[in-house]
Amino acid sequence: MYNYASGTNKWDVRNIYKERKGPHLDKIRVLEYDKIRVCYKENRMIRVMKIADYDEVRSLWMKIRGFGIRSIDDSREEVARFLRRNPTTSVVAEEDGRIVGAILCGHDGRQGTFYHVCVEEQYRMRGIGKAMVLACMEALRAEKINKVTLIAFSKNDIGNAFWKKIGWTRREDLNYYEFILNEENITAFIQ
Ligand SMILES: CC(C)(COP(=O)(O)OP(=O)(O)OC[C@H]1O[C@@H](n2cnc3c(N)ncnc32)[C@H](O)[C@@H]1OP(=O)(O)O)[C@@H](O)C(=O)NCCC(=O)NCCS
Repeated sequence: MYNYASGTNKWDVRNIYKERKGPHLDKIRVLEYDKIRVCYKENRMIRVMKIADYDEVRSLWMKIRGFGIRSIDDSREEVARFLRRNPTTSVVAEEDGRIVGAILCGHDGRQGTFYHVCVEEQYRMRGIGKAMVLACMEALRAEKINKVTLIAFSKNDIGNAFWKKIGWTRREDLNYYEFILNEENITAFIQ
């Protein structure tokens, strides 16, 4: 079972699905996201991210203070490769035809991972972030993935408050290890 906070937020994917499809949420497949486009109202939707969204998503990333954008991993070519490997699990939130939120989400066959979870500042605290998270979780679940993880900088008060509020578990019993395989993949932090 999921461990996310309950609520009746209008952006909640489960509520949206209930409105559109009745109570049989578990039978809905995420591949349908692309067809039905998860909408609350006509001018608002959460949908699967496509590479055609790259320019808009990148300009959103560039507005998010504290984000670390990588020269290689976040380039158009590498995001395209990521989306080819994970065609159903990354999402954007659109409002009035503009992208106001995005999550890059993929999995390795065993575990899902979120990257660059963000909502444009003027659109925050309206349930968009949580709805995108739920959409990605549903997409991962449809791929038979049982766990999803992400990294948040310890100093990211907004991000950490958000994950706590929506019921994610912060692991205190492990250390995070990495080994850089390509020194040219430089991270630039957005001020
Ligand atoms: C984190 C972020 C994606 C949240 O998006 P959002 O659309 O504002 O979040 P939501 O409105 O869906 O909030 C969901 C819940 O979290 C709570 N929440 C969101 N931001 C919060 C904050 N800064 N402090 C406390 N609670 C917060 C909301 O009150 C809401 O609670 P509720 O369900 O009880 O009403 C957005 O603030 C953001 O883009 N931050 C900058 C990038 C970032 O830090 N990303 C995370 C990287 S790990």
